[in-house]
Amino acid sequence: MMYRTHFILHVAKFAPKDRNIFPNLSKYCSRNLAQSPKPVTEPNEGANKKSAAIVKAYGEKLVIEEIKHPDPATHKLGKDDVVIQPKTSSLTFADLLMIQGKYQIKPDVPFVAGREVSGKILETGGDVKDFKKGDKIFAFLPNGGGFANTMILPQKNCFALPQNMDYKVASSLYTSYITAYLGLVYKGNLTSHDKVLVTGAGGAVGMAAVDICANAYKTKVIGVTSSPEKSEAIRQKGAFATIELSNLYKTSVNAESEKKKVNGKIIESPIKQKVLALTDGKGVDLIYETLGGSIFEDCVKCLSFDGRLLIIGFSSGTIPSIQTNRLLLKNHTLIGFTMTNYYNQEPNTIFQESFQAISSYWEKSYIHPTIDPQSFDLSKINDAIEYLKHKKSIGKVIINLE
Ligand SMILES: NC(=O)c1ccc[n+]([C@@H]2O[C@H](COP(=O)([O-])OP(=O)(O)OC[C@H]3O[C@@H](n4cnc5c(N)ncnc54)[C@H](OP(=O)(O)O)[C@@H]3O)[C@@H](O)[C@H]2O)c1
Repeated sequence: MMYRTHFILHVAKFAPKDRNIFPNLSKYCSRNLAQSPKPVTEPNEGANKKSAAIVKAYGEKLVIEEIKHPDPATHKLGKDDVVIQPKTSSLTFADLLMIQGKYQIKPDVPFVAGREVSGKILETGGDVKDFKKGDKIFAFLPNGGGFANTMILPQKNCFALPQNMDYKVASSLYTSYITAYLGLVYKGNLTSHDKVLVTGAGGAVGMAAVDICANAYKTKVIGVTSSPEKSEAIRQKGAFATIELSNLYKTSVNAESEKKKVNGKIIESPIKQKVLALTDGKGVDLIYETLGGSIFEDCVKCLSFDGRLLIIGFSSGTIPSIQTNRLLLKNHTLIGFTMTNYYNQEPNTIFQESFQAISSYWEKSYIHPTIDPQSFDLSKINDAIEYLKHKKSIGKVIINLE
């Protein structure tokens, strides 16, 4: 309860006046901890039946197999369970890590990959009161289970979708935007007066952060990307400016000795120079940092006096460290944040309220998730993994489950 009050106060204090993000607190039901459905499968029976994409061994290709259980046709439905007709899921960087066994959550193999699902309720158990047949739902599945075309979940795992929301939109929206929202607003105390820097801005959670800053909070946001296409997409989302990292800088990002040599010249943090030029020499108030490695170090130099830096991820593959005197000297704050922890620990308060806030923003057309033009069927899940691994995506990669 303390958290809820605290969170609402945060929002009331910092959200722009016309952004009423809790218009109807009881509209979207609270659900919590997903358990990864453990499949019993029969090998090599094709991908067109009741199938799932299974991690048999960490780091290997996913295997599409027929699911024998749970099977809605034969399963005795628990009184709190709902049978789902899965429609879409999405593939994210966290899925890549989980499939390789490099994520903080490491289920025993074999397990069904996929950390979320959007779909329709086909049947409800006797004690299910908040849902009925035909309802559209979203479920966050931090332990996996989302890449399957049949599913039975406890009702507590399901969140009601706005009626007019397309399933693809739901899969592109919630995990990334709740991450961005909780990071920026709840942890980062975002205000409309802040100037914000987002790294990895062309990725799923980066784009969500740019959208929330530029369009829900009307803040000035600068996006860091690695390609003209991603920069263009970010500017179209409303970024006030973009910074493109050169390929040389990017590829040498993990090599301390190389990173400042560009064409034989030593340059001092290209990000810092550009950010200072874009902020009247003051730096940014809040940084949403998804890359880690040397870019993190450069980002700290871009902070204004009293600035905050959110540690969102380490897409570069390198976890950075910092000398704490640099924080002391300019009153900087470093903020660690993992969205899944709020789902696990505060499902009925912080996570639920974020779900509502994002639904409300979407219903009011403040935010518009970017869906990558390339979507993949469940049977092509390994192609989708290669596509995301090679950084070809802009926005969210959707997996079609029907
Ligand atoms: N803290 C949380 O609660 C939370 C929640 C979700 C995700 N995350 C983390 O946030 C990060 C981004 O996730 P996402 O879902 O947005 O992933 P994504 O869609 O794959 O985007 C990642 C972006 O990072 C950049 N990138 C990828 N590999 C890189 C490399 N080797 N070196 C430098 N840059 C690289 C790419 O940007 P460019 O192509 O522009 O370089 C890419 O667009 C991940 O580290 C993920 O683990 C954290």
